[in-house]
Amino acid sequence: MIPLDKLYEGKAKIVYPTERLDELRIVFKDDATAGDGAKRATLPGKGQLNAAISAALFRMVEEEGVPTHFVRSDGPDAMIVRKLKMVPVEVVVRNLAAGSLVRRLGLQTGATLRRPILEHNLKNDALHDPWVNATHVEALGIASAAELAEADDMAMRVNQALEPALAARGLILVDFKLEFGRDTHGAMRLGDEISCDTCRFWDSVSRTPLDKDRFRQDLGGVVEAYREVWRRLLGEDGEGA
Ligand code: ADP
Ligand code: TMP
Ligand code: ASP
Repeated sequence: MIPLDKLYEGKAKIVYPTERLDELRIVFKDDATAGDGAKRATLPGKGQLNAAISAALFRMVEEEGVPTHFVRSDGPDAMIVRKLKMVPVEVVVRNLAAGSLVRRLGLQTGATLRRPILEHNLKNDALHDPWVNATHVEALGIASAAELAEADDMAMRVNQALEPALAARGLILVDFKLEFGRDTHGAMRLGDEISCDTCRFWDSVSRTPLDKDRFRQDLGGVVEAYREVWRRLLGEDGEGA
C-alpha cells in the first residue's frame, strides 16, 4: 500500500487521510512546545503515551454518552478518527485555579472554585489563542450561539464523566482544553485529544503535576509523569483498569 501524504502537521500531531473519506489517521508526535512554540523539545515516548491516554479517556467519555471523533487506536502512537470540520475555539474547563487563570486573576494555585469555570480561546497561535466570550464567537461568525452552547454542554459533561473517574485512580482533574467539530453528517463531536498535553492532572495525595506543566515549568520527569498517568488509567499491564 502506498502511504498517503499528510494533510497537516501541527505542533503535537500529524493528520493523514485514510482510504475512507469520512475518517482520518492522527499520529501523536514526541515533540513538545510551550509558549506557542517558543520553547521546544523532543521527548521520546510522549507520543505513544498521549495516544494511549487519549484513547482511554475518549472511551470513558463515550461511555458517558458524549459523542467523540474516536473510532479506534491504530498502532502504538496513532488513532483513527471521524473527520470533523473543526470549530476554531478551544473550550477550557477548570475545577481548581491553575495556569493562566492564576496569572490573570491573581489567585493561588490550587484555590478551590465554587463551580467549574468554562472559558473560550480563539485557536490562533499568532494571536496567542486570545480569550473570547460567546458574543465574540457569534459576532465574528466563528460559530453560532447554538453551536457554542452545544460544545459547552458537552465540555461540562466531559468534566462530569472524567473528574470522578480520575479521582478513583488517584488523580485530580485540575483543568483541561477541548476542541469540537462537526462530522460529515453535521453532528457535533468532541475532537482532537484528551491527554497529558491538554489536561492538568495532579497526584491526589502530593498534588504534584503529572502533565505538561512539568515541561512548561522545567520540573523534569515529563515522560515519567505521563507514564504514571497511563499506568493509573490502564493498569500496569496496559490491559485496562
Ligand atoms: P496544532 O494545530 O494546535 O498545532 P496539533 O499538532 O494537535 O495542533 O494538530 C492536530 C490538528 O488536527 C489540530 O489543528 C486539530 O484542530 C485538528 N483535528 C483534531 N481532530 C480532528 C478531526 N477529527 N478532524 C479534523 N481535524 C482535527
Ligand atoms: P491555561 O491555564 O494555560 O489557560 O491552560 C488551561 C488548560 O488548557 C490546561 O489544562 C492546559 C490546556 N492547554 C492546552 O491544551 N493548549 C494550550 O495551548 C494551552 C495554553 C493550554
Ligand atoms: N499551545 C502551547 C504551544 O504549543 C502549548 C501549551 O502551553 O500547552 O506552544
